[in-house]
Amino acid sequence: MQQILDYIKTNEQRFLDELFELLRIPSVSADSKYKQDVARAAEFIKTKLIEAGADKVEVCPTAGHPIVYGEKIIDPKKPTVVVYGHYDVQPADPVNLWTTPPFEPVVRNGKIYARGSCDDKGQVYMHIKAFELMMRTNSLPCNVRFMIEGEEEVGSANLGDWIKANKSRLTGDIILISDTSIVANDIPSIEAGLRGLSYVEVEVTGPNRDLHSGVYGGAVANPIQVLCEMIASMKDENQHITIPGFYDKVLELSKTEREDLNRTPFDLDEYKKDLGVEDVRGEKGYTTLERTGIRPTLELNGIWGGYTGEGSKTVLPSKAFAKISMRLVPNQSSDEITKLFADHFKKIAPKSVKVEVRPHHGGEPVVTPTDSVAFKAASMAMEQTFGKKPIPTRGGGSIPIVALFEKELGLKSVLMGFGLDSDLIHSPNENYGLFNFYKGIETIPLFFKNFVELNGK
Ligand code: BES
Ligand code: MN
Ligand code: MN
Repeated sequence: MQQILDYIKTNEQRFLDELFELLRIPSVSADSKYKQDVARAAEFIKTKLIEAGADKVEVCPTAGHPIVYGEKIIDPKKPTVVVYGHYDVQPADPVNLWTTPPFEPVVRNGKIYARGSCDDKGQVYMHIKAFELMMRTNSLPCNVRFMIEGEEEVGSANLGDWIKANKSRLTGDIILISDTSIVANDIPSIEAGLRGLSYVEVEVTGPNRDLHSGVYGGAVANPIQVLCEMIASMKDENQHITIPGFYDKVLELSKTEREDLNRTPFDLDEYKKDLGVEDVRGEKGYTTLERTGIRPTLELNGIWGGYTGEGSKTVLPSKAFAKISMRLVPNQSSDEITKLFADHFKKIAPKSVKVEVRPHHGGEPVVTPTDSVAFKAASMAMEQTFGKKPIPTRGGGSIPIVALFEKELGLKSVLMGFGLDSDLIHSPNENYGLFNFYKGIETIPLFFKNFVELNGK
């Protein structure tokens, strides 16, 4: 333990300088304009893995952005930890709402401000530095493989194929991921589940061309109006989703499980204050923690159509669009829910319009076991560094690839993340605490140590 702290202390500034270098690369996977930058970020990860002591480091091309692979096999008889993370980031828009530019990292009030600082470059970098630490201090207790991808934020469309093609070099015992949150810096926690995702785009077409809203208005369906009505009808007064069959497979938690979940420290007044809302809103009969942790949702991510430029234009538009995401919980299936949505959407469309539903990426929900050796190893490591036993929580976000690791590789994951829900990931002014960055570097080697020791027992 002292050895870990000493190494971090000696190299503190360098660790941060290197992370800053990575944060300066705008590796936005969603926007093809940044393709070269995404590639540059992959090269950077490769270089740093090599410098830290990894072997067989490779930037593996895919049909999309590359995957960086690296390994250190010290003894095939020893356990193998597969570290997964992503070096791509969300677009920085709206850029004008950032206090300082998104790709010019700075430290303010003990926090690193930059796109990707928390999600997930900062957390990936903790793993690379923890690995370096174990290598330099001769304390790497088992084998490790790194699989750092560049398409997580756009649905990991090519990772599945890559995994299938690389099964032989992905053998291991556990996947370790730092891409989630803890409750607070003095309340460590480990997410024991992630929601799945079904994402669709809808298009509603009224008349075959834009019309004069005076000449035709009142006589033909306005697709924006129809779209709003259709969307509004998809939740009832209890915020219950009305798509037939939507809840059929939802795993209801037992009373004790719900009580456990609701014991997670949470202050509703603080929550409302932080978000600047007078009240929360969600499915009747469930707490906020349950609404984000164990219940499925349907959210509009964007809606557009007609004239939105300056001034006014009297137009009855031909088309209206929306992007809609549904977060899923065990045992819902992404494909099934997408189909239920599409069937329902077509069914409720009035004859006066035509509708189209285009599925985007999806992913399955997961629950990770809390009684496994790996979970215990993570729990002990956090207890050792935070001085408090972490509580299991349920995260509202999605990492769709986790379910795939289980299906394709037969490997379970441990979600030992170090972010905070207040880190503004995906938003302007994303940040990551220096405390969290260094705490991660300190905790990861202990996970390795505990995992090997517990496996030996
Ligand atoms: N790291 C997040 C997921 C996350 C955040 C999980 C916080 C738990 C707590 C990840 O990068 C992410 O943003 N995932 C996307 C899904 C993807 C398919 C775009 C998401 O959840 O929207
Ligand atoms: Mn992430
Ligand atoms: Mn993300």
